[in-house]
Amino acid sequence: MHPHTTSAAPAAAAAPAPAPAAPGGPVDLRSDTVTRPSAGMRRAMADAEVGDDVYGEDPSVRALEEHAADLLGHEAALFVPSGTMGNFCALRASAPAGTEIVADTEAHIVTYELGGLAALGGVQTRTLTGLAGPLDLAEVAAQIRAHSIGHNYNMIRTSALAVENTQARAGGRVWPVERLERLRAITDDAGVVLHCDGARIWNAAVALGVPPRRLGELFGTLSVCLSKGLGAPVGSLVVGDAARVERAHEWRKRLGGGMRQAGVLAAAGLYALRNHLDRLAEDHRRASELAATLADAAPGSLEPKLVETNMILVRVADSGAFVARAAEQGVLVGAVSPTTLRIVTHLDVDDAGIRRAGDILARLLATDQPTA
Ligand SMILES: Cc1ncc(COP(=O)(O)O)c(C=O)c1O
Repeated sequence: MHPHTTSAAPAAAAAPAPAPAAPGGPVDLRSDTVTRPSAGMRRAMADAEVGDDVYGEDPSVRALEEHAADLLGHEAALFVPSGTMGNFCALRASAPAGTEIVADTEAHIVTYELGGLAALGGVQTRTLTGLAGPLDLAEVAAQIRAHSIGHNYNMIRTSALAVENTQARAGGRVWPVERLERLRAITDDAGVVLHCDGARIWNAAVALGVPPRRLGELFGTLSVCLSKGLGAPVGSLVVGDAARVERAHEWRKRLGGGMRQAGVLAAAGLYALRNHLDRLAEDHRRASELAATLADAAPGSLEPKLVETNMILVRVADSGAFVARAAEQGVLVGAVSPTTLRIVTHLDVDDAGIRRAGDILARLLATDQPTA
């Protein structure tokens, strides 16, 4: 049996407290997706009003969709099971089969979504290195194959340009608003849609000290996640204008992503948006503190040096071996390349956990031999 399941689930009358990290159990810093619903969130789930959402009759799903659309300054939103499905449905709503989307070489949609747009959607992806920076935006503009640049029926047409904010493989990096504004002007000129993989748009907004709407309004469509730093167990939203969200809705159905009494999940998402958004600043503070400890132990090992949100990337000699050594000592971290560790702070790790992880990781790093 999975360690977090119980054989006889009690009636929902008294919401169980969240399973705390076992005393002396590992500090899990692999991802912000490892959080478990808090007691308050579980109560909200248990109390949720529900209906059949495939019939459009789930009031909790409606409430979540309306709240998210409003929070991000858009007309409509659609609850989907995952960020992968959110990106797919949002992009496929703008990109017909036989067109291309443009994204950063390191983007999640390029690296970790199993080529879904090509495999299931007939959409080609073209990658640019350095889209989030330092690639010059004039070069980005030149790469967009818009029909507005002249009729050429041999040439594939660009339908959308996708950015990721925060950018996970760049270490939770936040896009400067000014760069996004310039990119939006470029995509508007070219008549293509600017999409945001906003799995962690909330972290970006908190790091910049702006309301999510300030970022949301910069995009034609977004996919935003509730199950990363916000701590909900499941769920993402496609956000955009009503027509695009309607097309995304058709794609969700086609992919089998229609959910019935999904209000129990939507209630967790709504709770997360209402209670866990501002506290992301704590995760950012803890990531900075941990990064400082690690930088002291192994100067030059952090890449990038500046931690902007809740992720730290650390260069080591052999990430697989390091991950195993750290796990033996009770700290779980991730490997994102043969020589790069990823360490992520989140809702379920507190100051004591960070101090413990810092001591152990610093000791291991001090004896590691990073490659030049
Ligand atoms: C930046 C980014 N986008 C999209 C996703 C996909 O989300 P999901 O795992 O819910 O499909 C993730 C998952 O971690 C992510 O980090």
